[in-house]
Amino acid sequence: MNTDDQTTTTYDIELIPGDGIGPEVVDAALPLIRAVADDHGLAFDITRRDWGTEYYLEQGEMMPEDGVSQLAAADAIFLGAVGHPTVPDHVTLHGLLLPIRKGLDQYVCKRPNVLFEGIETPLQGYDAGDIDFVVYRENTEGEYADIGGREHRGLDHETAVQSALFTREGTERIVRAAFEAATERDGHLTSVTKSNAQAHSMVFWDDIVEEVSEEYPTVTVERLLVDAASMDLIRRPHEFDVVVASNLFGDILTDIGAQITGSMGLAPSGNIHPGDENPSMFEPVHGSAPDIVGDGLANPLATVLSWSMLLEDVGEKTAANALWDAVTNQLADGAAPRTPDLGGDATTEAVVDDLQSRL
Ligand code: NAI
Ligand code: MG
Repeated sequence: MNTDDQTTTTYDIELIPGDGIGPEVVDAALPLIRAVADDHGLAFDITRRDWGTEYYLEQGEMMPEDGVSQLAAADAIFLGAVGHPTVPDHVTLHGLLLPIRKGLDQYVCKRPNVLFEGIETPLQGYDAGDIDFVVYRENTEGEYADIGGREHRGLDHETAVQSALFTREGTERIVRAAFEAATERDGHLTSVTKSNAQAHSMVFWDDIVEEVSEEYPTVTVERLLVDAASMDLIRRPHEFDVVVASNLFGDILTDIGAQITGSMGLAPSGNIHPGDENPSMFEPVHGSAPDIVGDGLANPLATVLSWSMLLEDVGEKTAANALWDAVTNQLADGAAPRTPDLGGDATTEAVVDDLQSRL
């Protein structure tokens, strides 16, 4: 961050548009993001990285070997999406997204799930605001630890081992972040595990929730097994406030969260490194959506809301609110353009243009 004489604050942003609809939604949103910045005396110095599957097909890797350290000095990172039908998903995920999250110690994956006015949920009887919870997903270890291997390939006794990693430090810090969030929201925390079946890691998780809860006497704690949580997110989503879960469970539950609040195209997310050592990375929850790529119909709102989260993270709350409010305002307006995932027929561009007029 850099403030000049004219009091323009400039943020260094690393931008990774990635694959599929990633570049479509990222590029469509950029003029809007720059306009909001301008309105608030801010500027973005953006370094664009053409990393992803095309890079992989040319270079044999998803990003340069020192890619993570190239990102480390930025104020924040924005990522579109990664994944391509021609390359196995474990290659794209382990080649780009996971190394960044882990390498920059972005241990909080924060995913708000809000039912906006004007959005229909597939669940019956819910109105705007009835669903409003945030998931704190552990983002650096758990089931996504890269520990394991395959032996005896091709033989009848071929074997695969995949180990999950739960450390005291890693568990405590995500649980504490979720408790902090609960104190600033409605004071209710749901911890999701599978501690009946996974009696080592998940009982360890439960123990840590119990310990940390003593520091937060005003927060009520509910424990759910992940299967019950999946059911209850459909059956009684209004009762959730802050949800804390491991890497895998948080990943799955946030897709449910996105669907019950309208669309994958609306769900924003932050990979947050609390503290100043490393930048955080913001991205829509959705993937590269190969089924709609190139049609110009991808919903840009998850991207816009993720930029709002970025602005909030760097301390620009007013600018963050301006973006968030423009989206809220647009969705509440029955005459506003909508992309097909929200039941309309508008293009990505039309949705962004309309947002511009609402700033
Ligand atoms: P996806 O999120 O790309 O698509 C799921 C469904 O939602 C599709 O029908 C798609 O058209 C729709 N959708 C997603 N975003 C949309 C948007 N902005 N506007 C309108 N509709 C939207 O998930 P899928 O199909 O499972 O994965 C596709 C690829 O993306 C895979 O290679 C996968 O590995 C990757 N992926 C990457 C993620 C990331 O970059 N963080 C997250 C999830 C998947
Ligand atoms: Mg996911």
